[in-house]
Amino acid sequence: MARLVIVSNRVPTPSKAARAGGLAIALKDAIQPGTLWFGWSGHQAPQTSSEAKITNFEGVDYATIDLKQEDYQNFYVGFANSTLWPLLHFRLGLMEFRRENLEGYRSVNEIFAKVLAPLLRPDDIIWVHDYHLIPLADELRRLGVKNALGFFLHIPFVPSSMFAALPRGEDLLHDFCAYDVVGFQTEEHRHDFLDSVRRIIDFPADNDGVITACNGRKVRAVVTPIGIDSGAFRSQAIQAAKSRNTRRLTESLVGRKLMIGADRLDYSKGLPNRFEAFNRFLERFPQHKNAVSFLQIAAPSREDVSEYAALRHQLNRLAGDINGRHGAFDWVPLRYMSQSLARSTLAGFYRFAQIGVVTPLRDGMNLVAHEYVAAQDPEDPGVLILSNFAGVAAYFEEALIVNPYDPDEIAEAMHEAMVMSKEERQSRHKRLFEKLQTLSAQAYCDQFLKALSGAQLTRAAA
Ligand code: G6P
Repeated sequence: MARLVIVSNRVPTPSKAARAGGLAIALKDAIQPGTLWFGWSGHQAPQTSSEAKITNFEGVDYATIDLKQEDYQNFYVGFANSTLWPLLHFRLGLMEFRRENLEGYRSVNEIFAKVLAPLLRPDDIIWVHDYHLIPLADELRRLGVKNALGFFLHIPFVPSSMFAALPRGEDLLHDFCAYDVVGFQTEEHRHDFLDSVRRIIDFPADNDGVITACNGRKVRAVVTPIGIDSGAFRSQAIQAAKSRNTRRLTESLVGRKLMIGADRLDYSKGLPNRFEAFNRFLERFPQHKNAVSFLQIAAPSREDVSEYAALRHQLNRLAGDINGRHGAFDWVPLRYMSQSLARSTLAGFYRFAQIGVVTPLRDGMNLVAHEYVAAQDPEDPGVLILSNFAGVAAYFEEALIVNPYDPDEIAEAMHEAMVMSKEERQSRHKRLFEKLQTLSAQAYCDQFLKALSGAQLTRAAA
């Protein structure tokens, strides 16, 4: 069987890989002994590495390189997270473009390719993840790599009129087309990407997502939504619900209901709007005062990007305002933590929370929604409030879908969730839980790797 090579900017710390979050969990079924996972170590060093440090853990090779400060700044802080991230989350006003950042982004991709290429074998299947590494396929091809190359974009794509604002955006679209397969979370993201390809670089693309690139080469754009192992997460939640942490949380609520939100501290997550919505909820539906607490966990993220630091201050202030205004000597309405919590701890909290609040302004998918649904007790499930602009909303129609730009609409959904009958909660949850079976981590890997294996066969036949 062909070896799978995974490339992503972040690589899980080997000894913690089994309990790591996000990508490591989604790829669990694809990762076999022998798999190679390549990327940045997460560390800065005096020099960017010219060869990888390889650690084998449970049969999987984790190969990483360090980045020097200037590369980290231009590639990660600069182009990836101050240009592409805001652009692809529809925040043109926050997009900063500097040529040296674009050059740094390209040169780090070139270094990734140079260090990775000697580690590759002819029949490897290479699966590259996310916006940090869009030019990697082109760089590998320049070095003579002939393997099948797939790319999955975890974040949204934007309509062509918005993408056109990115200086040299056409180069990036050509870079996407150096892959054999390009995957998206939703049909909308794929549609917007194909539209940019057609309009900006004039490559024809049919309605099945097949792009005809230079020299007639075919690139397939596919929709393969990421997911979780819902059965495993449910078991984890059942266990965690008996833990000391969950017990202490429930005791501290003294019979009140719990609303929960858990996000990276990122402006795409719509946290100020969510706080304002909770404020409106308490104002407009005072019958719920003292009957519910909202626990918002916001894990610090990308603190070297100035927008993130500004957001942190804003949230601290808003949380203080809400508690100052609505709190009582024996009730803290908003429990806000700008800290991260272990996934296993969150699992227990989700199970206990009667309302899950997932209201990003834009999000590629948002697996917190999946986890919240998976963690619920089907006999007495909680209610998910979900932004229309999270990728997962394309699949989870049975959630209470809201426009996150309207705090009043979120506040009304909070009220509706507080008073929803058990029958309705059960029937919504049942349908959502069924969706989790098709939106599984395994289906994600199977669908993407099937498309990529198809590309490998085509390459071999050519
Ligand atoms: C999002 C991105 C990932 C990224 C993660 C954490 O989920 O899609 O590619 O790894 O955020 O962000 P960080 O900048 O800490 O890697």
